Amino acid sequence: MQVELAKSAGFCFGVQRAVDTVYEQVEKGVSPIYTYGPIIHNEVVVQDLEEKGVRVLEGREALEALTEGTVIIRSHGVGREIYDLIQERGLTCVDATCPFVKKIHRIVDKESAEGRQIVIIGNDRHPEVEGIKGWCHTPAIVLESVQQAENLSLSRDVSLCIVSQTTFNYKKFQDLVEILSEKGYDRTVVNTICNATEERQTEARRIAARADAMIVIGGSHSSNTQKLFEICKKECENTYYIQTLQDLDLEVLRSAGLLGITAGASTPKKIIEEVRTECQS
Ligand code: F3S
Repeated sequence: MQVELAKSAGFCFGVQRAVDTVYEQVEKGVSPIYTYGPIIHNEVVVQDLEEKGVRVLEGREALEALTEGTVIIRSHGVGREIYDLIQERGLTCVDATCPFVKKIHRIVDKESAEGRQIVIIGNDRHPEVEGIKGWCHTPAIVLESVQQAENLSLSRDVSLCIVSQTTFNYKKFQDLVEILSEKGYDRTVVNTICNATEERQTEARRIAARADAMIVIGGSHSSNTQKLFEICKKECENTYYIQTLQDLDLEVLRSAGLLGITAGASTPKKIIEEVRTECQS
C-alpha cells in the first residue's frame, strides 16, 4: 500500500510555531511558565505541557496576580494592554503571536492612529479579534453578518480601514466589504485572511481524488476536521474519520493501492505520524 500524507495536515504554521515555542522554553529549563490562554485547543497537548509544569492563565485577572515567571502569548495574539501588564508585573514575555496576526496589529495600530475607523470582519468573541481591538487607538467596529453590515450607519466623512479575522470565510468577507462599499464610505480594504485552512482543504481534495481510501484524523468537536471529512468523502467513497491510532481499522484499508491521510488543524504531529507509520508497516 502506498501512503500519501498531506503536507498541510495538522497544525498550521502559526500554531506549530507557538507550540514549539512552549516546548523550547520547557527544554531551556525556564520556570515558572504560563501561557495566556490554552496554547491550542487540543487537550492532549495542553495536558502534556501541564505535566511539564506549564500553567494556563485563564484571563487578565490571573495575569494580574502573578509576581514572577514567563508568560507566552499564543498564536491568536493579544492587545497592547496585555504586553503592558506583563511588563508592569515584572514578568518575562515570550511572544508566539502568529506573524500574520501581528501584521494585522501593525495595520490597525497605524491606521487608527492616522484617524481611520477600524472595521474588523470577524467574530467579536474570538480571542484573535479581542487582540486586534486592543491595538486600535479608537474603538473598532466588528461585523460578522450581512445584517450587521447593512445596519452600519456612520457619518459620511468617516474613513474606514477594513481588515479581517485570519480564519474568516473569504466569500463572506467579500460580501460584507461589498455592502460597505455600496454605502459609499471612503475605505481601505486589507484582506488579512490566512490561507492555511483553504490550503489544507485543497490538498485534501486533491489527494482524495486520486486515493483508493482516505483517512481524516481530528478531534470529535473539531468543525474543520468535519469539513475535511466531507470534502474527502465527496472525492473518495472510502473515507474514514478517526481520532487516534486506536480507531484505525487496517483491515478495511488492505485493498487500497493508494491511501491518503490528512488531519484537522488541532491534530498533533505525533498522532499523524503514528497513523502513517502503522499504515506503512
Ligand atoms: Fe495559523 Fe497564523 Fe494562519 S495561526 S491559521 S498560520 S494566521
